[in-house]
Amino acid sequence: MSFLLRSARYLAQDALRQALEPGAHVVDATMGNGHDTCFLAELVGENGQVIAFDLQADAVERTRQLLERQGLLGRCTLHCLGHEHMGQVVQEPLDAVMFNLGWLPGGNKAITTRWETTRQAVDTALYLLRPGGLLTLCAYPGHPAGDEERERLTLYFAALRPQEFNVLHQRFLNAGPGAPECFLVQKQG
Ligand SMILES: C[S@@+](CC[C@H](N)C(=O)[O-])C[C@H]1O[C@@H](n2cnc3c(N)ncnc32)[C@H](O)[C@@H]1O
Repeated sequence: MSFLLRSARYLAQDALRQALEPGAHVVDATMGNGHDTCFLAELVGENGQVIAFDLQADAVERTRQLLERQGLLGRCTLHCLGHEHMGQVVQEPLDAVMFNLGWLPGGNKAITTRWETTRQAVDTALYLLRPGGLLTLCAYPGHPAGDEERERLTLYFAALRPQEFNVLHQRFLNAGPGAPECFLVQKQG
C-alpha cells in the first residue's frame, strides 16, 4: 500500500503535492535544514519560485548547500529574516505557504518559533494567499512555547470566517500529548 498515515509533516506535504502545480509561487516560512524548501522547489518546477525564511544563519546556510547539491538553488530565494517580516519582501499572490514550527533539528532548542511572531507571519501569509491557495502548518506541542503555539493557533484558525477560509486540523489521537499536529487552511476561491 503506498498511502501511509505516518506524520503531521507527511500530511502537510501530501496536501501540497495535491495542491501545487509547476510554476507555482510559494513560501517556506521555516527553512531549518532545508528539507521542506527542497521538497517545495521540486514541486514548483523550473518555472516556479520558492521564497524561504529563517532567522538563523546556520539554517540558511544548510538550506543553501542542500539546494545547491540538488541543483534547485536557482528557483529559490533565501532570506535570513524572521517570517514575521515576510510582508516586507513578498508582495505577489502566493499559491502556498508552509510552516514547520519549533527549533532547528540539531541546533539550539532555545531558538524556537513563538506564538507572537508566528501569529504575525500567519496573518501575513493568509493575506498573501491567492484564492484557492493553501497554508500548511505543523505544530509541535510538548514544550512550553510549542504548547502555547498549538493552543493559540487552534483558537486563531477556528475563528477564521468560513466565507473566506476552510480550515482542517489533523492530529494523531493515540500518539500521546506531545504528538505533532497539522493545520491546513485554504483561501476560498
Ligand atoms: C522545525 S525547524 C524547520 C524544519 C525545516 N522546515 C526542514 O525541512 O528542515 C523550525 C525552524 O524555524 C526557525 N524559526 C524560529 N523562529 C523563526 C522566525 N521567527 N522566523 C523564521 N524562522 C524561524 C528555526 O530557526 C528553525 O530552523
